[in-house]
Amino acid sequence: VFVREMSGLTDMEIQLQEILGITKVVILPQDSDEIPAVKSHIGKEAARFLETLFARYKKIAVTGGSTMAAISKELTNGKPDKALQFIAARGGLGEDVLHQANTIAAAFAEKTGGSFKTLYLPDHLSAEAFAMMMKEPVIKEMMDLYDQTDVVVHGIGNAGEMAVRRHSSTEEVEKIHSGGAISEAFGYYFDKDGKIVYRIRTAGIQLEQVQKATTVLAVAGGESKARAILSYAKNAASPTVLITDEGAARKIMELT
Ligand code: F6P
Repeated sequence: VFVREMSGLTDMEIQLQEILGITKVVILPQDSDEIPAVKSHIGKEAARFLETLFARYKKIAVTGGSTMAAISKELTNGKPDKALQFIAARGGLGEDVLHQANTIAAAFAEKTGGSFKTLYLPDHLSAEAFAMMMKEPVIKEMMDLYDQTDVVVHGIGNAGEMAVRRHSSTEEVEKIHSGGAISEAFGYYFDKDGKIVYRIRTAGIQLEQVQKATTVLAVAGGESKARAILSYAKNAASPTVLITDEGAARKIMELT
């Protein structure tokens, strides 16, 4: 807190809350694009914030990514709580295992003494396979859990980079590109106005379910994510808390 006040970051936090139209913004000093340790600081701040929610909220959906992995490293099990349930927000198998939602859900549960629910489905299902999968009882069970989710914790990425990271097909890349997608979160690609451009065809939490959660915690930093954060924030309906860094914050101010 002291460092943030000294560097004028608390003022910037209030300005960003208004620009983005969200409930709360926390800015960590420096830029995680340049200094990798800043991502751990984001993780630590997010872990502390999440821990304040655990007493009241038990059903928590989580996505994947390296910033989410940074949170799991920082969670502590001061008070193990068996009632906590971490739900993988998507069935994504396209990414590096350590960064998949399933792995993150398991890691959060291990750290906090809670349980977890995973969903192992490929990232790119054919229309037929998708329709069939959605009828499976295990998938229906996940869908019900998404509906009961209290808190969603997720990363935000650059649309183009995420398409590459997920080995998306030429057809998907084309849709993402021609639609002007800027950001990606929980399998949805959004344009600069926050309009959905494309959605990965796999089972996962729906945007409406995220929007009706009691709290949404978004974690993303680095100057390179400024546009993505701006685009994503257009969708924030439920109380949203963003934990970011100075690199992203300064660039957002410059762009707006
Ligand atoms: O793939 C999971 C995910 O949370 C995406 O939805 C998001 O775009 C990305 O990871 C963020 O990844 P990172 O924190 O590594 O930048």
